[in-house]
Amino acid sequence: MQEITVSTSNLTYSVKIGRLDKIIHKGKVLVVSNPKIAGMYLQDLLDCIQADEVFVSIVPDGESHKNFESIDKILEVAFESRLDRKSLMIALGGGVISDMVGFASGIYQRGVDFITIPTTLLAQVDASVGGKTGINNRFGKNLVGIFHQPKAVYVNPLYLQTLPKREFSAGVAEIIKMAVCFDKDFFNWLKDNDLNDRDCLEIAIARSIQIKANVVSLDETEQGIRGALNYGHTFAHVIENETNYHTFLHGEAVAIGMRMANDLALKLGLMSVENIKSIDFLLNRYDLNHNYHIKDVESFYDKFFLDKKTQNDKIKFIFPKGIGDVAITDEVPKDKLFETLKKWGK
Ligand code: NAD
Ligand code: GLY
Repeated sequence: MQEITVSTSNLTYSVKIGRLDKIIHKGKVLVVSNPKIAGMYLQDLLDCIQADEVFVSIVPDGESHKNFESIDKILEVAFESRLDRKSLMIALGGGVISDMVGFASGIYQRGVDFITIPTTLLAQVDASVGGKTGINNRFGKNLVGIFHQPKAVYVNPLYLQTLPKREFSAGVAEIIKMAVCFDKDFFNWLKDNDLNDRDCLEIAIARSIQIKANVVSLDETEQGIRGALNYGHTFAHVIENETNYHTFLHGEAVAIGMRMANDLALKLGLMSVENIKSIDFLLNRYDLNHNYHIKDVESFYDKFFLDKKTQNDKIKFIFPKGIGDVAITDEVPKDKLFETLKKWGK
């Protein structure tokens, strides 16, 4: 079992990559999942847990259920099961489940421990690590939430064998994001290797988690460098909001957002055409070539101001500076931004 450490100001925890063996907890445990994942993996997990009592809460599947209603359902089961402050919640699922369980566990009786067991590629390489938790509301994505670090993360790549191809590609978008922003060698390795190969995939998962662990350890609450993990997301969150979270998977929207950010970075002199082509090459290889038509550029622009990356009325953008380096800025000339938006508005 490979172990990667995340060290934050008041907590150090491990991300363990490999087959889950045992989870031992003195106290009660609440496992949260959705019907699809529970049907495939819940019993195996329950067989691994040694605890005083184990309860299960099943919430509906999908991004559109990442809301207060689902949090309420989880908390209901927690109260009915009389979980106390020594109890543990476990998230079994993708990023939707881990974001919600992180949030629910963080607010239940002012905070109990939680563990994430990510079952999608996106959650294994990104969402399950780093303690960003929360839900969406009608104003936008992840606007309600807290930082709450998990006590441990168990990543088992075997779960990915049942993952639909589209979901797999959405996870690859986040892997490409990590490489573009932080690791040129990894980016070049990605160009030479195929993530459909199981060994390559496991290498890429571990490398991405290591990048994320390093970034979170440096900047847990996104005062600086952690913001770079939002490359593509400034645009993606608006796209997801405009399409009511139905049209694109999160990773697909991020891939479109990365292309938009690259276009703007080119206009700002931060990126070369060659670098953009090499990112496009990788995105295309994993079918991350969705297009988005911006119907109303002004209204798209207005929605940036609902994002929590916008502060003091300034929109924060993340631009690659070549490959392996990144610029975070809120000083983007509006005319340049509109040129990019209009390109997608044609
Ligand atoms: P998801 O959780 O909705 O899972 C995608 C789909 O795959 C779901 O239908 C799920 O039931 C299904 N599924 C999960 N595991 C499966 C498996 N092994 N086999 C078959 N089907 C499986 O989506 P996601 O892409 O995992 O996560 C997206 C969410 O993560 C978004 O809400 C995003 O905001 C969030 N996110 C959070 C962070 C963070 O740092 N907290 C980072 C990135 C993304
Ligand atoms: N996925 C962005 C972050 O964890 O900061």
